[in-house]
Amino acid sequence: MKKVYLLSAILVAASALAQKQSTAWRVDSVLELMTLEEKVGQMNQYNGFWNATGPAPVGGDAATKYQHLRNGWVGSVLNVQGVEEVRAMQRVAVEETRLGIPLIFGCDVIHGYKTLSPVPLAEAASWDLAAIEKSARNAAEEATAYGLNWTFAPMVDISRDPRWGRIMEGAGEDPFLGSRIAEARVHGFQGSALNDPLSMAACAKHFAGYGFSEAGRDYNTVDVSDYTLYNVIYPPFQAAKKAGVATFMNSFNTLNGIPATGNQALASVLKEDWGFEGVLVSDWGSIGEMQAHGYAENLTQATQQAATARCDMDMESLAYVQYLAALVREGEISESIVDDAVRRVLKLKFDLGLMDDPYRYCKRPGSWEPTTSPWSADAQDLAEKSAVLLKNNGILPLTKKQAIALVGPMVQEKNSPLGNWRVSSDDNTALSLYEGMVQVRGEKRMAVASGPVFLKGPISFPFEAEINTTDTAGLHSVVDAARNAEIAILALGEHGFHSGEARSRMSLHLPGVQEHMIREVLKVQEHVVLVLYAGRPMILPEDITEQVDAILLAWQPGTMGGPAIANLLMGKRSPSGRLPVTFPRTEGQIPLYYGAFNTGRPGPSDAVFWSHYGDGPNTPAYPFGYGLTYSTVTYAATQAKQMGDSIAVTALVKNEGKVAVDEVVQLYARDHHSSVGVQPVRRLIGFQRVTLKPGEERMVSFSVTADLLSVTTSEGERLFEPGTFSFWVAPHSAAGTSASLDWK
Ligand code: NOJ
Repeated sequence: MKKVYLLSAILVAASALAQKQSTAWRVDSVLELMTLEEKVGQMNQYNGFWNATGPAPVGGDAATKYQHLRNGWVGSVLNVQGVEEVRAMQRVAVEETRLGIPLIFGCDVIHGYKTLSPVPLAEAASWDLAAIEKSARNAAEEATAYGLNWTFAPMVDISRDPRWGRIMEGAGEDPFLGSRIAEARVHGFQGSALNDPLSMAACAKHFAGYGFSEAGRDYNTVDVSDYTLYNVIYPPFQAAKKAGVATFMNSFNTLNGIPATGNQALASVLKEDWGFEGVLVSDWGSIGEMQAHGYAENLTQATQQAATARCDMDMESLAYVQYLAALVREGEISESIVDDAVRRVLKLKFDLGLMDDPYRYCKRPGSWEPTTSPWSADAQDLAEKSAVLLKNNGILPLTKKQAIALVGPMVQEKNSPLGNWRVSSDDNTALSLYEGMVQVRGEKRMAVASGPVFLKGPISFPFEAEINTTDTAGLHSVVDAARNAEIAILALGEHGFHSGEARSRMSLHLPGVQEHMIREVLKVQEHVVLVLYAGRPMILPEDITEQVDAILLAWQPGTMGGPAIANLLMGKRSPSGRLPVTFPRTEGQIPLYYGAFNTGRPGPSDAVFWSHYGDGPNTPAYPFGYGLTYSTVTYAATQAKQMGDSIAVTALVKNEGKVAVDEVVQLYARDHHSSVGVQPVRRLIGFQRVTLKPGEERMVSFSVTADLLSVTTSEGERLFEPGTFSFWVAPHSAAGTSASLDWK
């Protein structure tokens, strides 16, 4: 009997005749064979039984899940690792269920599978869209070889709060940069066609507002204005939608009082206003969490709320599978909602080619050493392009002759540079900075010391990374090495497991005894270079930033971070990364971002009555867009000229130095008046990464259309109002000369 149904459902839908029909016809031909329970099953996603990336589900043990799988009550699984496991589970779905509908296999392939690029925030610092797209493509190529076909990436949440540990997973604070990166990542993961077996379905997450959690505390309340929602939070999601992203994911937070997972207004923005036709999946357990939010009285009501808010798939709440069919039978939920969700899920399965061949992702099993894999060179290239030179008084690049002390907790780290959001990669597979320096520079005249213990215990995905804050044993080895060298290179920062999900921090200072270590080194060594590892903006005390000669922000640079950073330190290449997020001077300034409003009292003034702090400046330590190179690039005055339907904005840039550099030329605009509401003092509306040879001059020009200057109203309309605009072609958000004109 099973086989009969298998034939009738899958083979008919997959037959040569059917393939000539539209996907919609094929979807419907399967849908009409399904019982209500089987339909609900397609809306159910389970964690793959043995590898958890979130809190263990309450109830529903592996045995129950397995039985559900056989009943045809599971549409997708996540975290199943490896072709053998994928094949085994797919076999159950295809051969043991009544209809034989294949599963989709999801996983958080965030910045690589086993070969890891820098963490996403770092990648954003490259401002290199082609390289970012390639990175996502590479991740898809590697992950699909392990049987996977759906990644829960890109995270496109804008965030302006570095206390939020998940800031590392996004593209930073800016909606324009974030939108371009969202598109690049979607194109990379999905390639030109979803049915290419090297492509995987992407997922724009977390819809919506997750990056604005109050006080930077993960999972916390989100309360934002319509302006912020429509002009800051939504744009990267819209960009991902326009780029053809196959799926969206809800967010854990409440948005203006209603949990996103049960938020009908959000659903209607996504599915009606934007016309999204793909799958909307809940976040892990987020349907169930509506009870804790105080929105649902019980899991039945949560099921009803989520289904009514047209959440198409339940990730690990075990809500739909238990209650949805009954709610439909009782008339509490229309079956048309279920049918719509199932059509979306089935369509995705057809688009991925799974209905034609459920094992198509199991056919090129491979395994590669991350440091020598076909994707490692690109990972290194991006790590080089992502690093941001924050300070350099001329000490960098180093020469091979100098005696150096390579010291600090990150020098020999092979794990931390991978970050924490790497479900599938193996521990300690990064090349360390030490290994990189040996490759690029050689070992001679290089003293190495890691210094005091950094962490108090082992690190793991679900638990806090505990820091040593008291024990300075081992500090003397660092100080001695520094004293005896000509230059001390201090590699330090936060551990890869200090940022990421659920890793919010109150203090953004260097954790543990590191500030003490820098000050001790500065007592014995005049020439100090900091190499800063981080997944978020960190705060460096001013006495330190003033005294050190150079600061190179390496982020969590991934598998090939060691040689990448060594190449930059040794001048094989010039740093070229630019900050995708503001670095504050102190936590008290947060949220601090360049695209703020002017206020009615921008000041400064002699009296206190202006918008400021009494105990420190308003300005950041390093502004958005900031980053140095090993050269000096000068910018002539910005010119702006109306040319019919657009404005040409130009500036002459010149490489005044002796080395070739990539310069990220940025275009900012200000709309001086808008009927929608006040507008930011600056808004990024364009950028170009240009390579300039020594002495080379280039006229960089941008064509500004009305759409780039438009504002989105709370009805979702794009509105352009002629009036006065200012433009800056500038090296970062706090620099440049402006040109103003009246758009007629
Ligand atoms: C929870 C995270 O918020 C989400 O981003 C992730 O995709 C899921 N867990 C699945 O691991």
